Amino acid sequence: MIRAVVRGFGAALPKRVVPNAELEKTVDTTDEWIVQRTGIRQRYIAGEGETTASLGEAAAREALERAGLEPQAIDLIIVATASPDNTFPATAVDIQARLGITGGAAFDMQAVCSGFVFAMATADAYLRTGLARRALVIGAETFSRLLDWNDRTTCVLFGDGAGAVVLEAVEGEGTVADRGILTAQLRSDGSHKAKLYVDGGVSTTGTIGHLRMEGREVFKHAVGMITDVIEAAFAATGTTVEDVDWLVPHQANRRIIDGSAKKLGIPLEKVVVTVDRHGNTSAASIPLALHAAASDGRIKQGDLVLLEAMGGGFTWGSVLLRW
Ligand code: UT7
Repeated sequence: MIRAVVRGFGAALPKRVVPNAELEKTVDTTDEWIVQRTGIRQRYIAGEGETTASLGEAAAREALERAGLEPQAIDLIIVATASPDNTFPATAVDIQARLGITGGAAFDMQAVCSGFVFAMATADAYLRTGLARRALVIGAETFSRLLDWNDRTTCVLFGDGAGAVVLEAVEGEGTVADRGILTAQLRSDGSHKAKLYVDGGVSTTGTIGHLRMEGREVFKHAVGMITDVIEAAFAATGTTVEDVDWLVPHQANRRIIDGSAKKLGIPLEKVVVTVDRHGNTSAASIPLALHAAASDGRIKQGDLVLLEAMGGGFTWGSVLLRW
């Protein structure tokens, strides 16, 4: 049985760090409120010349280097993003060209904060069915350019960045002892569209628009949806919460992360948290957190790693993989 195994990982952040104190000067907020309600202490904000494609390219280069692969070895690029450089073509083809890759397929995936989970699931399906052999899966965002910087209920929450993994098709035994993606669980429910959306678009306003969110409403659904897809991953693989070495959640809010871990019975020592440093970077948050925990030696080869995300749509999902 073919498994999609992680061979390399990378990350990139903009140069500029914006601590909460800086936002106190522009909107009616406090460092204390932001830390208490979200756990966020700072975020990175893209400057001139830093775009979703440039951050994604940098993350991809590091992932390729760690994998020991030349760019031409890649035959699939999926970029999870809701903040592309252009309406079209896909940011993935831009990154493909920047890397000098001339073969294979490259496309974007739009599932907002769940984008990286959806992209991992998609790459897994391509690799297992033989449509591709080596994939770059990238989560890259410049949400700062979608924010209404006068809206304190949203502008303090988000940040920019990118993370990437190289997945390779490897023959496994078909058991949960295999390295690679063991299951992916994806869900969407468009009836929640109005709770988290961008109020502009190509075929409606002809503008980019700004992010709008009913934060409390999103919060209310988050923990239940997250635990639903995690329990589905356990059921699909016959694993249990005790088998999990690392939970790498989407980093939206420390309270959602802690609440989900508590409901599932996962001790906080096994949860990777970067929301304090990165804020919510949407589709980039999971690969950025994976990079943090794998590069400092916490996540080791053979560890069982659980990814989960929930966001606009709503969309939500989980991926269970052995590192
Ligand atoms: O990644 C995609 C998924 N997105 C999420 O998961 C986000 C989910 N939601 C959340 O994380 C939280 O709901 C928030 C962090 C957005 C807000 O936290 P909350 O505990 O739900 O606060 P709230 O919206 O109920 O607001 C409480 C109060 C309000 O004032 P009143 O109405 O009680 O007088 C807000 O106006 O806090 C006020 N407030 C602020 N105060 C200071 C809202 N934003 C701010 C702010 N600074 N930046």
